[in-house]
Amino acid sequence: MAEYINTFLFGVYPYIAVSVMIIGSVLRYDQNPYSWKSDSSQLLHSKGLRLGSNLFHIGIILLFFGHLLGLLTPHWVYEPFITAGQKQVLAMTAGGIFGLMCLVGMVILIWRRTTQDRVRATTKFMDMAILLILFVQLILGLMTIPESAKHLDGSSMVALAEWSQHIVTFRPGAADFILPQALVFKLHIVLGLTIFLLFPFTRLVHMISAPLKFLLRSGYQIVRKRG
Ligand code: HEM
Ligand code: HEM
Repeated sequence: MAEYINTFLFGVYPYIAVSVMIIGSVLRYDQNPYSWKSDSSQLLHSKGLRLGSNLFHIGIILLFFGHLLGLLTPHWVYEPFITAGQKQVLAMTAGGIFGLMCLVGMVILIWRRTTQDRVRATTKFMDMAILLILFVQLILGLMTIPESAKHLDGSSMVALAEWSQHIVTFRPGAADFILPQALVFKLHIVLGLTIFLLFPFTRLVHMISAPLKFLLRSGYQIVRKRG
């Protein structure tokens, strides 16, 4: 039975979560394009937002790229340069620093959203829910660090990377890599996949509309003093 649940959660659920994310996002964009926004609350109350939001966003974006590179780079690509053990220590250190940054930012954002009347009044259920889910996910992520410290040869990290690479390349047997891992890794991955699943129903959609063109725009913005 345990093996059956493991295969479902780590072999089947990833595909369900990503499918809901893609189909849900396309439908939302098509049917309700004006709901596609970050729902800024700066106008209502700006105190703490800049610091909280910046720490949170910088932390989480660096964690995102860390996860992407760390989990999806095949072992043979980095093998000539660093050992699995060194990569494990790198992931724990960099992930730990970005994770703590993200944590401080998130505490400020949660404080602001729960104590400031004007912000609270416009907070929808999903705004609070996703903030709390990200918070729990971050705590679980940070809790993997002491667990990883028990395997400084990088063996658990290699198995976790193998799982994600098997999933994205549609190879069978992905879930078998997760079965022997510690519970905290399993919880962190299942909740992470649930964030993918919930993505189209939350404000998280704003992340794929980051105004990157702004960085490359031609011409300057002309700002004149009032006469
Ligand atoms: C890709 C670049 C991103 C940009 C440009 C961006 C931009 C923004 C902006 C403008 C806001 C509104 C802040 C305000 O109230 O004025 C916001 C809020 C938020 N963003 Fe992002 N974001 C990005 C990536 C992400 C990522 C990767 C995540 C999480 C996985 C995320 C999660 C959130 C959350 C939870 C809020 C609401 C915070 C609160 O409760 O006040 N964002 N973002
Ligand atoms: C589907 C989504 C996700 C998956 C599959 C995932 C998977 C993992 C795995 C396998 C590790 C352990 C890496 C190792 O031991 O080498 C880890 C660590 C970590 N995760 Fe995630 N994660 C996801 C989303 C997130 C999110 C959204 C956050 C932040 C809110 C986060 C924060 C962390 C942190 C802080 C660590 C510890 C430091 C590190 O190793 O980078 N994760 N994650």
